[in-house]
Amino acid sequence: MSDQVHLSGPKTFVTIEEHILGQQRSHPTATGSFSWLLSGITLAARIISAKVRRAGILEVLGEAGDVNVHGEQQQKLDILANKTIEQCLGYRGNVGILASEELDHPKVMGGSSGKYVVIFDPLDGSSNIDVNVSVGTIFAIFERDTSNFNGEDPMTDVLQQGHRQVAAGYIVYGSSTVLTYTTGEGVHMFTLDPTVGGFILAQENVRMPESGKMFSVNEGNWNSFPRGIQEYLKWCKSDAAGPYTARYIGSLVADFHRTLLRGGIFLYPPTAKSPTGKLRLLYEADPIAFLAEQAGGKATDGQIRILDKQPTSLHERTPFIVGSVREVERVEEFMRKYAESPVA
Ligand code: AHG
Ligand code: MN
Ligand code: MN
Repeated sequence: MSDQVHLSGPKTFVTIEEHILGQQRSHPTATGSFSWLLSGITLAARIISAKVRRAGILEVLGEAGDVNVHGEQQQKLDILANKTIEQCLGYRGNVGILASEELDHPKVMGGSSGKYVVIFDPLDGSSNIDVNVSVGTIFAIFERDTSNFNGEDPMTDVLQQGHRQVAAGYIVYGSSTVLTYTTGEGVHMFTLDPTVGGFILAQENVRMPESGKMFSVNEGNWNSFPRGIQEYLKWCKSDAAGPYTARYIGSLVADFHRTLLRGGIFLYPPTAKSPTGKLRLLYEADPIAFLAEQAGGKATDGQIRILDKQPTSLHERTPFIVGSVREVERVEEFMRKYAESPVA
């Protein structure tokens, strides 16, 4: 066995900027405006990554001493990440509306020329920050309805169904910083190379395995799960099923990143504390669902395809089940079978 490990570098050294331009060429109607917008996101990602990686040194750990609209303790990094994205996107000229988990209401930016709406979770999994567990950023991009440029209520441009997204993605600040995005032409992954300060193409057209013996759920909420979810999880743990492996990080971006690459299923069902689910439709479930479907996976609230749900408010929550198509279909079967049954 040779004692040399041959580390092959990337075959072609493609930056995310080059990749976006390439994607744009295949969109005859696309203008440079879209890649200009995405370059604002990659800039924000590099800045947030640097802050996350120096959290213990930069005095950005811990609570900011304030609560957000959800009554959740805001972490300093939630605020910093939110401000970074506002600064990197807000003045690009083509962003008309910014909406964030950390802002009570959407922000209309500058003049009415901004044709894009960017809705984001600036720091996902922030309760994990202080214990050095992976966290992330999630974004969804829509186009504004140009007939609404006369400054009417921006909410009509924010409350769009997920299938109208023109792009979506996440950044996971893990053992490396990985940016994954889709513009509806497949899912593409880039790794931040700190030596050059840029995102380099790691994997193009990522496909989620059709099935996977891994489930990801916070079983602490077991007693209040719907009966169908309880019966599905009991099946996963049975010898008939395998049993499956359980993995739960507690950061949606990290749990989904693993599911996208390895297959399996992530579930955040309704619970006693969050009867309509904990995760937010607009800036957690919708962008992740768009990526999942683009990679051949599936995403539902247990009854309805996530991307078909019509949002009625910015911070609306939803039950969320996402993963390999076979696994999600199996959960749906259990949900139908036990629809009328009381919680066990
Ligand atoms: P955020 O930090 O943006 O509020 O998101 C946290 C979410 C999500 O990342 C994760 O899947 C979920 O909260 C974990 O919730 P539990 O701790 O209740 O399992
Ligand atoms: Mn989140
Ligand atoms: Mn968050």
